[in-house]
Amino acid sequence: MLQVLRGAADAISGEYLAAQLGLSRAAVWKRVHRLKAQGYVIEGSPRRGYRLLAVPDKLLPEEVLQGLKARVFTGPVHHFETLDSTNDLAKALAARGAPEGTVVVAEAQTGGRGRLDREWDSPSGVGIYVSLVLRPMLPPMELPQITLTTAVAVVRAVRRVAGLAPGIKWPNDLLLNGKKLGGILTEMETESDRIRHVVVGLGLNVNNPGFPPELAATATSLALEAGRTFSRVNLLQAWLEEFEELYGRFLNQEFAEILEEWKGSTVTLGKMVTVRQGPREISGQALDVAPDGALLLRTANGEIVRVTSGEITPGSSVEPGV
Ligand code: BTN
Repeated sequence: MLQVLRGAADAISGEYLAAQLGLSRAAVWKRVHRLKAQGYVIEGSPRRGYRLLAVPDKLLPEEVLQGLKARVFTGPVHHFETLDSTNDLAKALAARGAPEGTVVVAEAQTGGRGRLDREWDSPSGVGIYVSLVLRPMLPPMELPQITLTTAVAVVRAVRRVAGLAPGIKWPNDLLLNGKKLGGILTEMETESDRIRHVVVGLGLNVNNPGFPPELAATATSLALEAGRTFSRVNLLQAWLEEFEELYGRFLNQEFAEILEEWKGSTVTLGKMVTVRQGPREISGQALDVAPDGALLLRTANGEIVRVTSGEITPGSSVEPGV
């Protein structure tokens, strides 16, 4: 129905719609009614017929899949007005056999989760809260590479749609002007020594006009940085398209190239940082990222330490070893 309405230059009659879709006139009316309830603005006059005037600013499956240039990540797309957490639902769906490429998206989350048990502020209709089910036939230790690949896809998507270039803070924080624009939460289920499924969750602050006081100093959105709003549908489509391309290359043993691209966008390398891993802290200069995605730090005594997880804070009183 939407496809026919979209393709029409002018209003089209209920009779024509019914014939095109093989439906009764009553069924056409019912579907128009359902679309209107979803937020589509459809003008209907008995004389001229139906005309699509506006589509809702929502991440509806019909909008996300419309014109999506993807071969693998072509849905299904599950859309909700409100969810606890898109990652939680995606994990439950994956456990029940949802195929690779399944997308879960919500307009708002009431229990959005970040890394290290943090909350992810998820107000309605302004951000992207999305989770993607993947089924790579890989050992669990390759998970960090998927996370880094996801971050590169976000950078590409934001560049393409918004013309802004976010920086990546290791491993996967997306920053603009030093403030947090987005984050990635990758979770997996394993089976002996292989991955059963992965859920990649992305939270991106798109049209947030501001943030609660406790986040205002550290968070930002594309709208705040650019002074205008952006289509969340276009951004989500761009991320899915870029991720599909990069994920294909990752599966094709081309992670080294993806890592080079990641390094081209990172704001971490070369800096003095402190990595917090629970109660433990390691400080040093962020030298490089190893081929498997681990961060290499040079500590004050010149030792090179591999860090595979944790939270980075900038600066430290420790001078790098020479
Ligand atoms: C982080 O930076 O700590 C990661 C934030 C990830 C947030 C996203 S929003 C969609 C998905 N569902 C969740 O509950 N979390 C992720």
